[in-house]
Amino acid sequence: MPTALITGSNRGLGLEWVRQLADAGWQVHATCRRPADAGDLQQLALKHAGIRVHRLDVTREDELTALTQEIRTAGIDLLINNAGVYFERWDKDPLGSIEYAAWEETLRVNTLGAVRVTEALVEHVARSDRRLVLAITSHMGSIAEIGGGRNYAYRSSKAALNAAMKGISLELKPRGIGVLLLHPGWVNTRMGGPDAPHHPEESVRGMRRLAEEFRLEHSGRFFRFDGSEIPW
Ligand SMILES: NC(=O)c1ccc[n+]([C@@H]2O[C@H](COP(=O)([O-])OP(=O)(O)OC[C@H]3O[C@@H](n4cnc5c(N)ncnc54)[C@H](OP(=O)(O)O)[C@@H]3O)[C@@H](O)[C@H]2O)c1
Repeated sequence: MPTALITGSNRGLGLEWVRQLADAGWQVHATCRRPADAGDLQQLALKHAGIRVHRLDVTREDELTALTQEIRTAGIDLLINNAGVYFERWDKDPLGSIEYAAWEETLRVNTLGAVRVTEALVEHVARSDRRLVLAITSHMGSIAEIGGGRNYAYRSSKAALNAAMKGISLELKPRGIGVLLLHPGWVNTRMGGPDAPHHPEESVRGMRRLAEEFRLEHSGRFFRFDGSEIPW
């Protein structure tokens, strides 16, 4: 059975990835910052022998080292860089009241975190059959789609993630390793809020289809969960 590793899998889209892949019979390394507090994930793990829960804060090198030791030589068919932050207060903060410390934290998680995890686990991906890395980014990282001000931290963190992952896709393509940049849609999670039109089940189902249909020629491209392409 194929194996996936997911970051930020205790709630929201990450938890839904765990649920759907485990239901489909995958082995799932489900990572989260605080396993002891991850009630929904632990409940799911009780029902599926294929789920293993691991500690990982994507900003922490020491936890990443411990994780690579825990999973040892196992291959990772699908590496899902899902963990992300969005500090909504900033949405309301125009020029003049930007919080730079929070912006730095957003970059640390959304950009550096995903690249650091990918770098640490790329040899595991290389050892697998499917060899695919997903970056759960956002259409808000598209410079072409910026239609107004604010959201400077989140937008720039995802634009930088897109730039880094595009480069990584070119570096990994000769090794037969693919990279897909995926926008999940506006989804009803803690980040997306209650007004979001999409449910995690529908979003993850769409992203899974893109991962299933992946061909190496798609590597480095930026898609919505419904398969439409997003301009940079
Ligand atoms: N929902 C949307 O509408 C939407 C739209 C576009 C893109 N996205 C992207 O989709 C991804 C998932 O978002 P979501 O909607 O599921 O958000 P969410 O419900 O807020 O979940 C975010 C997840 O990221 C984890 N996380 C935060 N900081 C972390 C860190 N330093 N290390 C490891 N995990 C960390 C959280 O863990 P804790 O519980 O420990 O905080 C949580 O599991 C994100 O990358 C987000 O940017 C979402």
